[in-house]
Amino acid sequence: MSSLEVTIGNLALRNPTMLASGVMDETAGSLLRVARAGAGAVVTKSIGSEPRKGYPGPTLVELDDGYINAMGLPNPGIEAFAAEMREARSCLVPVIGSIFASSPKEFSFLASKMQDYGAAAIELNLSCPHAKGYGMEIGVDPETVFTVVREVKSACSIPVFAKLTPNTHRLLEVAKAVEAAGGDAIVAINTVKALAISAEIRRPILSNKGGGLSGPAIKPIGLRCVYDLHADVNIPIVGVGGVENWRDAVEYIMAGASAVQVGSGVGRAGLEVFESICTGMQAFMEREGFNSVSHMVGVAHE
Ligand code: FUM
Repeated sequence: MSSLEVTIGNLALRNPTMLASGVMDETAGSLLRVARAGAGAVVTKSIGSEPRKGYPGPTLVELDDGYINAMGLPNPGIEAFAAEMREARSCLVPVIGSIFASSPKEFSFLASKMQDYGAAAIELNLSCPHAKGYGMEIGVDPETVFTVVREVKSACSIPVFAKLTPNTHRLLEVAKAVEAAGGDAIVAINTVKALAISAEIRRPILSNKGGGLSGPAIKPIGLRCVYDLHADVNIPIVGVGGVENWRDAVEYIMAGASAVQVGSGVGRAGLEVFESICTGMQAFMEREGFNSVSHMVGVAHE
């Protein structure tokens, strides 16, 4: 009999699926719905110090094999988010607080707020590909990442995950900086820089022009990053990018991920995606003789 339970750092999950930040995660109501649908954990929308409206529309383009988005980190701000977290805590699965900031001090402030609100772990957004002063502008420099992770670790006692960008040739150096600073896990990957143009309008479609590509189009990029990271770092990896069925999830786990996040897959396959990944993975593990998810982690390297 196979078990889907996994542990990331000291965070125990009933199964290896999580809701990725950015999808159905700005209110307690939607986080509770995702938890009820079977996710092993849920990650909140990235929250900053102050309320932010984000970019004007259009902020999302749907493609055959994914989405390009540039929302602009819209969020109610950390003070207002207390009420959502209070209610979301009743969802019986870990709620991971995603935060974005422009300095180590601001990251630490937000992390300790999230901890006070009852978050089970922190996810540092070091990877949004299109927000001035935030995300990957911070997350492509290993020294800055080291300082951010070290300061957040000393400001809170819950596990700290770093969500990294594939839009750099320094991914492995950045990941090593996370590990050296005491980070508990790496989340890879955030979206890939991309652009959509309308032939009729003769302009980029998104108001921000550039955005981030997600969905099946980026799965091979995510798999490659997770595979390379697993070979080079010794902390758990959470795989993200184009996961929408059990086979995608198993591929990420065999590349080296201990769990996966699902974002675009919720839009493309519906909330049933979590249960169907788990059912399919369980059947695969029984067929193939794996009695735990951890036995599948990294087998593609053997
Ligand atoms: O635009 C956004 O809010 C996207 C954030 C992200 O990609 O991390």
